[in-house]
Amino acid sequence: MLYTFKGATEQALREVDEEKAIRKTGEIFLLFTLGSQFDHLIKLALDRLGVFCLVCDPASVTAEDVKQLNPKGIIISGGPVSVYEEPPPFDGKIFDLGIPVLGICLGFQLWAQHIGAQVRRGEKREFGTHSFSRMDSLCGASVRLFANCPKKMPVLESHGDVISNLGGITVLGETENAPVAAGRFQHLWGVQFHPEVTETMSGLQIFENFCFSICGAEDRFPAGSVAESKVGELREQVGDQKVLLALSGGSDSSTVAYLLKRALQGQKKQLHAVYIKGIDRPDDEACVMKYFGDQDWLTLEVVDATGQFLAALDGVANMRDKRLAMRLVYRRVLQAAAVRSGANFIAQGTLYTDISESGGGYASGAKKAQIKLHHNVNLGFTLPELTPLADCVKDTGRNIGRAVGVPEELLIRHPFPGPGLIVRIEGVVSETNLAIARQADSIFIEELRKWELYESIWQAGAVVTDSVATCTKGDDAVSGRVVALWAVWSVNGFTARWARLPYDFLDLVSRRITNEIRGVGGVVYRVSSKPPTTIEWG
Ligand code: XMP
Repeated sequence: MLYTFKGATEQALREVDEEKAIRKTGEIFLLFTLGSQFDHLIKLALDRLGVFCLVCDPASVTAEDVKQLNPKGIIISGGPVSVYEEPPPFDGKIFDLGIPVLGICLGFQLWAQHIGAQVRRGEKREFGTHSFSRMDSLCGASVRLFANCPKKMPVLESHGDVISNLGGITVLGETENAPVAAGRFQHLWGVQFHPEVTETMSGLQIFENFCFSICGAEDRFPAGSVAESKVGELREQVGDQKVLLALSGGSDSSTVAYLLKRALQGQKKQLHAVYIKGIDRPDDEACVMKYFGDQDWLTLEVVDATGQFLAALDGVANMRDKRLAMRLVYRRVLQAAAVRSGANFIAQGTLYTDISESGGGYASGAKKAQIKLHHNVNLGFTLPELTPLADCVKDTGRNIGRAVGVPEELLIRHPFPGPGLIVRIEGVVSETNLAIARQADSIFIEELRKWELYESIWQAGAVVTDSVATCTKGDDAVSGRVVALWAVWSVNGFTARWARLPYDFLDLVSRRITNEIRGVGGVVYRVSSKPPTTIEWG
């Protein structure tokens, strides 16, 4: 779990003072996380601005605690609940302290309800990118939140509730279905959209305006070398003991390998890596062998778990059950390899995104939804785990990889889910549909590379759906599975837009897939973005 401030104990206040001393500042901002999928992106945005942001638990931090911390400003994140149905835990007296607050989505609705405005279910919900227009009539201090932002701009929204019956709120801007997309009441500021995600234009500028113009912050702390501090922490944790690393050949576990290489000063006897084969991409093994197969700083073991995966997945059709079955095999294989190799720690490339979507993240009492259970979270190994990227998202993880010398070819590989091809097969996983998923992926990715589209696409995949299409092959009426292709543009995987691939490209890939893969009856292309659709199919 990442550090969360839970109350003004002597110990916690001492830690905060130490951090202020390191940063040579007396300024602090508080981030109350109400269970949003994006809460960590708010923290990363403030880190980028050089602002000291302390994550607080809304269930235990009171107005009295806040007074003791004396923050310059307070940010309240979004969350999965409705304020009128299941209000998140939060001490409303915090709003009465006179400290500037920026509420985001649920955070906005929370203070709006507190001051007497009405929050209710909107007739139309807003998921995805919408156009935000700032009110023309803004004047005085009210213009400050959107200074240096365009008057009209795309913003990402993900909400079903709207604020009506203003209760004194000055409306700062609107979107098509949210007449109060931004508002202000005295020192309380709010936006219904998410300035922390990349789809929102000028999001960082909004945080800049809030922290420096509205709250009057003055200090910026240089980010320093995050990679170096991670190497130092690993060195301290591991000492001269031994680590077993789960290595997939993707950018995250490769980055962890290189962090450990530095931390253990290349001591081969201290680092053993395991590559688990069976539900992987067609080119994963070759990639792992190329970069990690013959190195003088780690030993590598390939475990073919195809049989174990297929046995565990036999007859299991529901996606959540398949994820659970896969996790058990993954855990068993890693745990056994750790014991065999005499390791003291198990290391994984788990990202904050994986933890957050699995319902974890900052330890707080607010309700958080489980979007999907990731394979690498809360596995309950008997050995302590090392997850040095647990506070990173995809792009920040890649930057750390760059800083410690991970080869660029590994870093720019498309992300691939730990549960592998099983999340790209609807219904029961069998050898036949695993083969179809692999062949379709090969063709799709090969063509993306040939057309020089691979690097501009963040991630792409081919799904063997449960739908069957009637088709005619060689004048014969046959039927075959429908393969769904998807490709997205993204920065960190929290949000994504479907990629506008050229029709000629899609035409070629579709023809190759239906011609070359027996058992495929048709090809479709997915045109939905995240939110609401997640990047993977399952
Ligand atoms: P979603 O599908 O949740 O994916 O929008 C966000 C990113 O995470 C990858 N993904 C996973 N990665 N274990 C992982 O290690 C998982 O269970 C998992 N599910 C999705 C997905 O490929 C995308 O890059």
